Amino acid sequence: VFRNKLEFFAAAKISSSFPPPTLPEIAFAGVSNVGKSSLLNALTRQWGIVRTSDKPGLTQSINFFRLASKLCLVDLPGYGFAYAKEEVKESWQELKKCLLVHTKRGMKPLDYELVDLMERHKTPYQIVLTKTDLVFPIDVARRAMEIQESLKKNKSVVNPVMMVSSKTGAGIRNLRDDKAETDHL
Ligand code: GTP
Ligand code: MG
Repeated sequence: VFRNKLEFFAAAKISSSFPPPTLPEIAFAGVSNVGKSSLLNALTRQWGIVRTSDKPGLTQSINFFRLASKLCLVDLPGYGFAYAKEEVKESWQELKKCLLVHTKRGMKPLDYELVDLMERHKTPYQIVLTKTDLVFPIDVARRAMEIQESLKKNKSVVNPVMMVSSKTGAGIRNLRDDKAETDHL
């Protein structure tokens, strides 16, 4: 499905202006600058359609992309940019699928809040460690285990943490093939 042409088709700032959900959706959430927009590019191997930046806060609206008439990818702004927290939370609830993305810096309080929100709404989610090229593999593994453990305490089911680098391409194919995300397509 990721071979199809990636097409931007809508931008929204509030959930009331979201396009009607006609396709299965995967949303990319996480702190600013974690690599959400870059991951969309890497997954689709279509560079330059989703804009990225080394300055945090580039993505200011919720951007909707589609892959033919098969899948909708949603690029979210980093937490805290352009929205009141409550408003963003409200928008997240509307999204069918959330993919929580976060960095080698580990889970932040807002990441845990999002996990809670998704658990409450039974939104399927996958945690993805980004920018793995910036640390030693042993530290990537350690980080993944730490997150797994921290979530185990209060959650019943947690998908294994996935690890990617949009820069080197490591782990991208795994994420693309992720069964949970593609089974229904
Ligand atoms: P906002 O839209 O501001 O929330 O940021 P974002 O999460 O969309 O991040 P974006 O994809 O714009 O990337 C932020 C910066 O990190 C850019 O300078 C990217 O080139 C860089 N970056 C993204 N992925 C990787 C990666 O896997 N490795 C490395 N080393 N840098 C990366
Ligand atoms: Mg972005």
